[in-house]
Amino acid sequence: MGRVVVVSNRVAVPRRGEPSAGGLAVALKDVLKASGGLWFGWSGETRKNPTLEPRQVRAGGIDYATIDLSDEDHKGFYAGYSNNTLWPLFHFRLGLMEYDRAEAASYRKVNRDFAQALLPLLGPEDTVWIHDYQMIPMAAELRALGAQQRIGFFLHIPFPPFAVLSALPDAERLLRDLLAYDLVGVQTKRDLAGMINCFQDGLGLTPDATGGVRGEVAGQMRRAQLSAHPIGIDTRGFATLARKAAYGPETQRLTASMGDRALIVGAERLDYTKGLPHRMRGFAALLANFPEHLNKVTYLQVAARSRNEVASYRNLRRELDSLAGRINGDYAEFDWTPVRYVARAVARDTLAGFYRAARVGLVTPLRDGMNLVAKEYVAAQDPEDPGVLVLSSFAGAAETMEGALLVNPLDAEAMGETLDKALKMPLPERRERWENMMRGLEEQTATRWAESFLAELEELPLPEQDLLWAAPTRS
Ligand code: G6P
Repeated sequence: MGRVVVVSNRVAVPRRGEPSAGGLAVALKDVLKASGGLWFGWSGETRKNPTLEPRQVRAGGIDYATIDLSDEDHKGFYAGYSNNTLWPLFHFRLGLMEYDRAEAASYRKVNRDFAQALLPLLGPEDTVWIHDYQMIPMAAELRALGAQQRIGFFLHIPFPPFAVLSALPDAERLLRDLLAYDLVGVQTKRDLAGMINCFQDGLGLTPDATGGVRGEVAGQMRRAQLSAHPIGIDTRGFATLARKAAYGPETQRLTASMGDRALIVGAERLDYTKGLPHRMRGFAALLANFPEHLNKVTYLQVAARSRNEVASYRNLRRELDSLAGRINGDYAEFDWTPVRYVARAVARDTLAGFYRAARVGLVTPLRDGMNLVAKEYVAAQDPEDPGVLVLSSFAGAAETMEGALLVNPLDAEAMGETLDKALKMPLPERRERWENMMRGLEEQTATRWAESFLAELEELPLPEQDLLWAAPTRS
């Protein structure tokens, strides 16, 4: 196998003094290190007139190449089309989706710029692995420039069915863009079904017996293999982190401040897909309908601020501020604050300790590709006295985490009942559920995910692809 080249909008270049990377970054770095690979993407910087000449650094045995975005493209490509059009659309939130032609053009331009900047760095034997919704057209742009390498794509977020995707004026073009990949991976069977439905209803293309779709993109006939590759975490590594963090000063301070009360924990980016207001309402329903928990339980919600340049994120912040204040106003005692709400990021190892200290992990997104917090919460538990995972059935993780208590986050009373059940669950049942989930997590790690995706990509029959490539094109 040649070099692996990873492309993502955000690049995890290691920087001194920054907290350790998450499971996904670690898994990708392992793959990159093993192949002498390259990670390419946006530097995270914006400037007036950026060049397409990538800045290259080598760190920890990996080459990194990054380019900057112009202020205009940061607005149009990143804040606009990626995060105010595709993000809500792919998470089934049509009411929040906005569309602007200039932003759609900026999205395409940035993908073209990325392709142009990367092409000179590619060798003929390289395998390119492109990640997430910000970069869907990049393979089509690379192909248009003549790239013939194997190119794979993995979507980290959900893939909606055509009834939802068709709200996008560019839906057909975006689907065609996917045909430029040799392999398109999604998180779950549900997402795979959504994508197949889109190809059928949107382009009239039905998968062949081995799960590939054939169709025309940019004047060329291509075949893209479609498959589900559920992502995992570094299960052992996270368990070790949590074990150590439990003795760290932050977790000690947290548990001391709790007294005998049980802790419910939630942690994510402050994003409307995570169902944070619903979660607060579910917690309020627990207090309202099960008064035996009053003054006996505290809910800690860490919500790292995110994408502040998008209005729907600023609105969510206001809504959460007011809800948390309202619930505390209604239920607090002079010595008890029911909701502890922290609207900023908390270091990964500190979070690991918090997860271990929590009787309940509350992970209730309205939609989520996978949700790694659910997996990390489970990995962090003390095997002798594990907590309970309360999980939204709309998270990709729900497809495999059978030991969780599943909830529909829209039903506040049901969430209150489920929290009550979780808080009262006897130790033998907690253990059985935890062991069941932990077995799955030990099998399906982030490293396995990366290896299995790349193995499938490498095994695809390129000669056939070449034939397709040479097929006469429609005029
Ligand atoms: C999600 C997306 C990623 C994205 C991350 C952070 O996990 O799937 O592609 O990088 O959110 O969002 P941001 O907009 O800050 O990159």
